Amino acid sequence: MKIAFFDTKPYDKPSFERFGEANGVTFKFFETKLNEDTAELAHGFDGVCVFVNDTVNAAVIDRLYEMGVRVVALRCAGFNNVDMKHAFGKVHVLRVPAYSPYAVAEHTMALLLTSIRRIHKAYIRTRDYNFSLAGMTGFDLHGKTVGVIGTGRIGRVFIDICRGFGMKVLAYDKFPAPGLDNGDTIRYVTLDELFTQSDIISLHAPLTEDTYHIIDAEALEKCRRGVVLLNTSRGALVDAEALLAGIKSRKVGAACLDVYEEESDLFFEDNSGHILDDDTLARLISMPNVIVTSHQAFLTEEALSNIAETTVDNLIGFFENGQCPNEVCFRCGSAQDCKDGKCF
Ligand code: NAI
Repeated sequence: MKIAFFDTKPYDKPSFERFGEANGVTFKFFETKLNEDTAELAHGFDGVCVFVNDTVNAAVIDRLYEMGVRVVALRCAGFNNVDMKHAFGKVHVLRVPAYSPYAVAEHTMALLLTSIRRIHKAYIRTRDYNFSLAGMTGFDLHGKTVGVIGTGRIGRVFIDICRGFGMKVLAYDKFPAPGLDNGDTIRYVTLDELFTQSDIISLHAPLTEDTYHIIDAEALEKCRRGVVLLNTSRGALVDAEALLAGIKSRKVGAACLDVYEEESDLFFEDNSGHILDDDTLARLISMPNVIVTSHQAFLTEEALSNIAETTVDNLIGFFENGQCPNEVCFRCGSAQDCKDGKCF
């Protein structure tokens, strides 16, 4: 089985080569992203393997279909970069639903602690032998209220971590997890209650029509003054212009962003020698209370290994057994519901 692997980074190769070789899957690694201009590279391959910023729109799907490519194996959980409706009947879309919720949840807490305890400032200061504490005052997490939007795999691990710090949790999910609400330290509330009562808000929901700009000017207006916003889910959950306005007006106390709405042309690449065209991102990065990491929350040894293993299992399941439990349904976006037809 031959798979064209797009948007290859050096850290992708070792685990994919290891699991591929052991299971008879040959990956051809291309550094370029998949899009209308590069889809041609998939000619002669059985499938393509793509990541979050590859483009799998109608034009790309049609080209893949014409070339006989029948599988798009996402090496990530989110599939908002795939036109699922157009894919139906043409290409099968496989994904890695979970690879390490701990990686993302732990990174979210790392960002929060870095921000509120000013570790990013201290690191730079002490390298210059500046041991002053001016401007370094933080606040305790213990006793604070964290609002968690999206209580799936990552959201629930993040809740556990927050509980370890003695925080109270207000949760919001379109499909609440049974048994999570204990009526005391963890409670499901409405989105408005979450906005008005949280000291910290963390986003762990997928990007859908419902969650697009779930944090916008109106939402920020409802929030507590000084609210800390954490986004390690998808950039477009946050209206970046509104966030910038919230930071400028001091309504938002701090923001930690692992993802950004317009990240696809920037993140994962070294742009240090370039003039940044995106004024909103440049202004956000210039703020002392904004921390940006470049979509690295997933990047742990464990996650990379799990991603490669599941992707190879998905491909083998699909090509050898004709089915894959991690195939995405174009209607409901889940593999599980498709099997018993619930989503139809
Ligand atoms: P999951 O599918 O286990 O959980 C997502 C939760 O969001 C579910 O409980 C679902 O019911 C809920 N949800 C769906 N629509 C909603 C809505 N309109 N409002 C509120 N909640 C809603 O997914 P998981 O594994 O926890 O991942 C969460 C997100 O994290 C992913 O969708 C992905 O975008 C992002 N992610 C980011 C990574 C990074 O490196 N920064 C790596 C992996 C995932």
